[in-house]
This record gives sequence, structure tokens and C-alpha cells, in this order.
Amino acid sequence: MSTEENLKIALAGESQANRTYLAFAKKAEEDGHTQAAKLFRAAADAETIHAMMYLERLGRIKDTTENLKEAIGGETHEYTEMYPGFVDAAAADGDGESKLAFRWALRVEEGHANLYSSLLDKLDKADGGSYFVCQTCGWTAEDMAPDGCPVCGRPKEQFKEF
Ligand SMILES: [Fe+2]
Ligand SMILES: [Fe+2]
Repeated sequence: MSTEENLKIALAGESQANRTYLAFAKKAEEDGHTQAAKLFRAAADAETIHAMMYLERLGRIKDTTENLKEAIGGETHEYTEMYPGFVDAAAADGDGESKLAFRWALRVEEGHANLYSSLLDKLDKADGGSYFVCQTCGWTAEDMAPDGCPVCGRPKEQFKEF
């Protein structure tokens, strides 16, 4: 296997390990295993550093205009091609929970494509407003959290500000 292919495999693995360890940390915290939670969070951080090195080696990090364009392309692929098929397949399997997860993600990724596009149009005169992320479905709002999430219906209080 070429080094480029190995970098791609390593990037995918380390990226997944990062999110998996954060989920494990949350579970450990809920169960009172504070030290395990700490170690999972520390290792998750280290896996992020590895993923960043591989992104750099793969030449995937460009200037912000190019990065926004790539992000728009990725999100658009997800909400127009990937998730519609996943929603249908989950429905065909009778897996309502997965169907809902894919439907939520589809709508959120469409929102991300729109947010990235509008920022790309005004990158040099963007005004410093915050973004708010629904901690249930990931819906991402600009400037203020909505009273109820338009995707999952959860209340304003559980949005996280960035
Ligand atoms: Fe997204
Ligand atoms: Fe939501």
C-alpha cells in the first residue's frame, strides 16, 4: 500500500477513535469513573493531533476560501446523495431509529452547506456573530438559538454556543 493510502486509512481510524473515546468518556463520567473519563479525553486529544498531522501530510488543509468550498462540497454530497439513500435503506430495514438519525443529519448538513455558502460570500466582512448547536440533533443556528429546534423540537436551553 502507498504511503498516501496509509495516511488516508490512518486519518479515518484516528478520527473515529477520537469521537469514540469522547463517547466513552461521557459514559465513564455518567457512571462515576472519573479517572477513566480523564484518560479517554486525553487519548481522544492525542488522536486529534494524529489526525491533524495526516490531514497536513495529505495536503488537505488549504486557505479558508478553498476550505469553505471543500466543506460546501462535502455537506452537499451528504444531504443530496448520501443521506437520502441511507434514509430509504433504513426505512426498508424497518429501522426507525436509524432512519430518524439519518433524517436529522440530512437536514443539519443542508444547513451547514447554507451557512458555509453565506459565509463564503462575506468572508472578509463577517460580523463576529455566534453559532448555536442543538445538542440533540446538531442543528446549527446563526446569531441566536431558536426557541425550539426546527429539526428535533428540543428547547433553546440545550443549544451550545460557539
Ligand atoms: Fe455538517
Ligand atoms: Fe435539534
